Amino acid sequence: MSDRRISGFKPTGPLQLGNYVGAIRPVVEGQDRPTTVFVADLHALTVPHDPRRLRELSLQVAGLLLAAGVDPARAVLYRQSDLPAHAELHYLLECVASYGEAHRMIQFKEKGGGSGTRLSLLTYPVLMAADILLHDIAEVPVGRDQRQHVELTRDLALRFNERHGPVFTVPRATHPAVAARLADLADPTAKMGKTNTSANGVLFLLDPPDVLRRKVMRAVTDMGGEVAYDPDTKPGVSNLLEILAVATGGDPVRIARDYPNYGTLKSGVADAVIALLEPLQRRYYALTEDDIEEALALGAERAAERADATVRRVREAMGLTSGRRAPAGTRATPETAPAPR
Ligand code: AMP
Ligand code: TRP
Repeated sequence: MSDRRISGFKPTGPLQLGNYVGAIRPVVEGQDRPTTVFVADLHALTVPHDPRRLRELSLQVAGLLLAAGVDPARAVLYRQSDLPAHAELHYLLECVASYGEAHRMIQFKEKGGGSGTRLSLLTYPVLMAADILLHDIAEVPVGRDQRQHVELTRDLALRFNERHGPVFTVPRATHPAVAARLADLADPTAKMGKTNTSANGVLFLLDPPDVLRRKVMRAVTDMGGEVAYDPDTKPGVSNLLEILAVATGGDPVRIARDYPNYGTLKSGVADAVIALLEPLQRRYYALTEDDIEEALALGAERAAERADATVRRVREAMGLTSGRRAPAGTRATPETAPAPR
């Protein structure tokens, strides 16, 4: 049984605290198990993008993953577009997934719809399934918003295995116990996201300390002045308590008792977030572009081996040539030659 884990990060904007608590930290903390982490740059093409900015953000995301503790000696860290296998398996899985299935995905319903919407936004969950299934993954540490996509991945893996034989490991999603869906500080009903319309409620990992403090001090709170953890009736305050809990390692219900009012709570959150991000920022600014590119190149090499082997198995199971019946005039290479029976 595989105990491999994978997580991906879209370079559509600078990484924010929700990414950190929802996925980066769980990934870093579990690196004693085989771990794959990648910059999901192909996913960033599903919405209007600027090529130069995409290139910069991809490097920044990789650098922040390294600064947050992804260890390239243990984990495989790479850039998705460096491995053609993602695009190939994506297409093959589009021939397993249905239109209805893709259309039902919440993220498409939220972001898509207009006739100018890129077609890739509709099919993007299938690309995500390909990302995961390429690597024999057991567990996908992600924020709660990605749960539906991992469910789709499971459905596709099971359907494929039933139709074509046992090729794929069937993965499951895991979420952190606290802060699986961090909310925007300025709108506690919305998810904190790197592309939210206003940056006021988003704590970016590279925000300077004074900016972090200002955003926290202006966070929207709730009616009544009592500090208590109750996400249904006190979403703003509960979100602040969750941030404090993940930053200090405590429990949000217990932490609430330490703060007599909203003002002291906000100061506590600001201090904790600044202390949490300070070492990460220091490590990030000490990295050079060459350090990052070097780590990505090493990762791509290591990731390609397993990914290419998976694609070969899938091609064969689906009835595509795999070298066994190469057209006349082509020669089998050592990679494509049939294994001895
Ligand atoms: P993305 O920014 O969409 O590329 O997300 C990368 C990872 O961060 C995914 O696992 C998301 O589920 C996770 N994530 C993003 N925003 C949040 C949030 N506000 N709370 C928890 N996890 C999040
Ligand atoms: N779709 C994810 C997001 O928007 C990013 C992602 C792409 C991912 N491929 C993945 C996450 C594979 C985990 C595993 O956040």
